[in-house]
Amino acid sequence: MTSQPGLTSTTMSPIPNGTLLFNEIPEGYPEPGKTTVYDTTQTIDLGNIPLNGGILIKTLVLSVDPYLRGKMRDPAIKSYSAPFLIGQPLTNHGVGLVLRSENPDIKVGEHITGVISFQQYSVITALKLSTVSVIAKTEESIPWSAYIGVLGMPGRTAFYAWREYSKAKKGEVAFVSAGAGAVGSMVVQLAKLDGLKVIASAGSDEKVKFMEQLGADVAFNYKKVDTVSVLKKEGPIDIYWDNVGGATLDAAFGSANVHARFVECGMITTYNSKEGYPFKNIFEIVSKRITINGFIVWDWTDKWEDEFYRVVPKKIASGEFKYSEDITNGLEHAGEAIRRIQTGQNIAKSVVLVAEDKQ
Ligand SMILES: NC(=O)c1ccc[n+]([C@@H]2O[C@H](COP(=O)([O-])OP(=O)(O)OC[C@H]3O[C@@H](n4cnc5c(N)ncnc54)[C@H](OP(=O)(O)O)[C@@H]3O)[C@@H](O)[C@H]2O)c1
Repeated sequence: MTSQPGLTSTTMSPIPNGTLLFNEIPEGYPEPGKTTVYDTTQTIDLGNIPLNGGILIKTLVLSVDPYLRGKMRDPAIKSYSAPFLIGQPLTNHGVGLVLRSENPDIKVGEHITGVISFQQYSVITALKLSTVSVIAKTEESIPWSAYIGVLGMPGRTAFYAWREYSKAKKGEVAFVSAGAGAVGSMVVQLAKLDGLKVIASAGSDEKVKFMEQLGADVAFNYKKVDTVSVLKKEGPIDIYWDNVGGATLDAAFGSANVHARFVECGMITTYNSKEGYPFKNIFEIVSKRITINGFIVWDWTDKWEDEFYRVVPKKIASGEFKYSEDITNGLEHAGEAIRRIQTGQNIAKSVVLVAEDKQ
């Protein structure tokens, strides 16, 4: 056996490879230990596992996002994102450290990002290498977790769709639901940058404080204060960034200005239930001539990615843009993090720290 760069002799025999498996399609909220199971029986021989022209990575961080719930479905149901398969590891955006490589363009010690497995170690074969890309830190002070949060899919979601759909004009009023979350917190800051009055809602007083720090002019806890009355007082609203759907969306219809733009980013209130919401104000779409755009982040990569990377990393590094993370330590607790984001208990961008950044 030849020694591999990046691996010591102690890693040349099979070691445990903790893996979070998809175990059962949930009826309502996902349950750790039932919907997902942390499997400690799998092992991996880091020095000898075949790479088939690919790479071996150690997983450093994994993102936990609301859309994972949609992947926990009957595979016969079609949707925009492929379903998880029973007995297979979950997958999502993450960052990994390259331990071995058979690809000339990817070096041992480099970092990759893309959709990877909820496993401590995994092989990305040559066939799958197009799904990951090598990344380098733009600033040493920014942790890898930020590259799957504010500088990753959620940050890009906010930036692309704000640029594409908000048609923001200085002095207008924007309302952002789940304004303290991964996407919402970036939207609040983009709206402030464009000179808007920003109303932002979230589900705890701690989140309200964070939204105030982000610059929201009116930040409120919708569990304590009635959304309809806040919007009546502070609106009418020209832009509604919807992360939640349901009653909040209905309230936004009811307080929309003429020619308002509604950016339909997500509807998390509906993800764990089969019930539809009985909208009362839906005719406002007609009477207020509301433009409604739904989107999936990747629709806009080609158009907005370059600008995102030109603008956002600098603002993060300088502290002009703020972000906050809800960190779960250890892959064995990832199932709980998945449950917490579906029940709204995460207090900021949810990330799982799997391992330290060392070989
Ligand atoms: N279209 C796209 O391409 C795209 C991409 C990324 C994300 N999204 C969507 O954007 C939205 C925000 O995603 P994110 O990653 O930024 O998540 P997040 O806001 O960090 O976390 C989700 C938050 O939703 C809020 N929420 C409101 N009502 C809820 C309910 N009934 N049950 C559970 N949570 C509730 C909770 O905050 P409160 O305490 O404030 O209630 C919870 O913390 C989600 O709907 C997601 O699906 C869409």
